[in-house]
Order: sequence, then C-alpha cells, then structure tokens
Amino acid sequence: MKASVCARYGPPEVLQLREVPKPVPRDEEILVKVFATTVARGDVRMRGFAVPFWQWLPARLYLGVRKPKRAVLGMELAGEVEAFGRNVTRFSKGDRVFAFAGFGFGAHAEYICLPENGARAEEGLVALMPANMSFAEAAAATGGALTALRFMRNGRICPGQRVLIYGASGSLGTFAVQLAKHFGAEVTGVCSAANLELVRSLGADRVIDYAATDFAAGDLRYDFVFDAVARTSRRRCRRALKKGGIFLSAHDARGSSAIRTEDLVFLKSLIEAGKVRSVIDRTYTLEQIVEAHRYVDLGHKKGNVVVTVAR
Ligand SMILES: NC(=O)c1ccc[n+]([C@@H]2O[C@H](COP(=O)([O-])OP(=O)(O)OC[C@H]3O[C@@H](n4cnc5c(N)ncnc54)[C@H](OP(=O)(O)O)[C@@H]3O)[C@@H](O)[C@H]2O)c1
Repeated sequence: MKASVCARYGPPEVLQLREVPKPVPRDEEILVKVFATTVARGDVRMRGFAVPFWQWLPARLYLGVRKPKRAVLGMELAGEVEAFGRNVTRFSKGDRVFAFAGFGFGAHAEYICLPENGARAEEGLVALMPANMSFAEAAAATGGALTALRFMRNGRICPGQRVLIYGASGSLGTFAVQLAKHFGAEVTGVCSAANLELVRSLGADRVIDYAATDFAAGDLRYDFVFDAVARTSRRRCRRALKKGGIFLSAHDARGSSAIRTEDLVFLKSLIEAGKVRSVIDRTYTLEQIVEAHRYVDLGHKKGNVVVTVAR
C-alpha cells in the first residue's frame, strides 16, 4: 500500500510517498481503508520535532532518538472497515468509521489497523461515522473535537456561564466554541479579523479581534477561559476571570489524557443532531502531503486541513 513515510525529523520535504506492507489485523483489530485523514498540529510537531528544549531528551527517548519510531504520521481518519480479526464483534465489513489514531499515528496511509475497543487515546479510538458527514468532514471531527470536548468538560461549564475561547479559529478552537454553546454557555471567541465571521457562524455570541482589542482589558469577567492555541497565559487572563474562574490551556496535559471511545460516540450524536460541524480549510491528496505540511507549519489554518486518500 501507499503511505507517507517520515524517515527522519525535519522540514516537510523529509516526507516520502512509499510502498509499504499492508497491515494485517490482529484478533481484536479492524483493518480500515482510509478515505480521508488530516494534517494536524501533532503531525507537524512530530515531523519537525518541535518541542521545548527542556523536553528534548525525554521526547527523543519516547518518540525516537534519530528518527520517529512511528514513521507513518497521521492521527485522524475516516474510512471503511475492510477486514477484522476473529474476536471483533462491534464492526462489520463495509462499516463507515471515524477514528483517532492518537500517538499510535499511522493514518497517512491507504490502510490502518485499529483496536476495536481502544481503551485510551494512545491505542486508537474508533466509532461508526456520523451519518450526515462526508469522509473528509468526519476525519476532521476526531482529534481536535475529542480534545476540545475533554477541555470543555474539565471547564465544568454550567448553563448561563460566560466562557471565552482564545484562538477560536483553529481545530480545537472551532470545536470548543460549538461545544461550549452546546453546554449552555454564553461564548466569546478571540481570533484574528479574518476569522471573525467564521467564529460567529459557529455560534459565538461575541467575537474579539486579538490584534485590535485586549480581551482581558474589558469589563466582562468569565467563568472559564480556554486558550485553545496555547498563545496566552494564566497570568494574562487573571484579570478576565471571575473569582473562582477556571483557566485551561491546550498544552495542559490533563486535557487530552482521558479521551475515550464514548466521547467519539457522543460527538457522533451531536454532529447528527446538527449541533457540531467540522471546519475544513484546505484539502490535499496524499501525493500532495508535503504541501499540506507546509501549509499547517504556517500556523494559520482555519479549523482543519484534510488529506484525501482513497478515491
Ligand atoms: N488538533 C488536535 O488534535 C490537538 C490535540 C491536542 C492538543 N492540541 C494542541 O492544541 C493547540 C492548538 O491546536 P490546533 O490544531 O487547534 O491548532 P491550529 O488549528 O493549528 O491553530 C491555528 C489557528 O490558531 C490561530 N492563531 C495563531 N496565532 C494566534 C494568536 N496569537 N492568538 C489567537 N489565535 C492564533 C490561527 O488564526 P490566525 O491565523 O487568524 O491568527 C489559526 O486559525 C496546539 O498547541 C496543539 O498542540 C491539538
């Protein structure tokens, strides 16, 4: 099968499209024919080995000393079940699924094996795809959506509370705005002028252009501030929080550690009820994956960047 292989850390040009062995599902695994995947922030981070210097050594030991242990990147996908191991009971051949491969990566390929019942994000989580989405939309509604959901739950949002999403136009941000609305919050989204309309269209009650206005300098106080792009700080937000208010940043490890398959099933129900949608900025083919990485590297994608695989 064809796969995008990251044979060493470096710029997008290190990626090569190669023929690699097609995986064979183990007893508890399904084999998914990938129709769409994404280039997420985690993929470009892994490829470029963009970690703070104090994490350099532990990260190299964990991810691979000279090159990534996971040579095929790709954390998010949607596709069709093509085969399965003998102990699989939840899925059948032809089922349309969406999945978060997580730090197992491997989605930038024509096929991927995933455990039927992954217990943790690291193992891979898979569920039947929302009926009202294309493969591209469904692939984009996994990692960022799951992480945003976890953060919104950790923010303990109650109906009527005031929530601010800083960096509301990225993958996490676009889902966080919609999920905070679903949980009943009054939502303010902070983004650049170019994305104000997009963030409003996702349901934000108020939008602030970060280049023109300092959200923390206004009169409004928030119950929960979520920094979806890890570009502001607890210190800077202190003035904007109500007494007892919560600040969380996307780099807070607690956010993504507890993601479960039930969360993916919950997202499916919200999507099918029309409460949540995925935002797709650009679409590339697997052959164009170097260009997709170059674009995500710029740090200005709106929502998600999709890569179509099977046609
Ligand atoms: N996506 C995931 O699955 C996932 C999972 C776990 C953790 N994370 C972490 O969450 C963070 C965000 O990931 P992401 O994928 O959502 O990011 P992203 O989509 O790459 O974020 C890009 C967005 O950030 C906005 N932005 C850039 N600089 C900004 C600034 N100074 N202030 C406000 N907005 C700014 C950009 O808008 P403008 O260009 O208009 O400024 C752009 O729309 C990353 O640190 C990532 O490691 C992501």
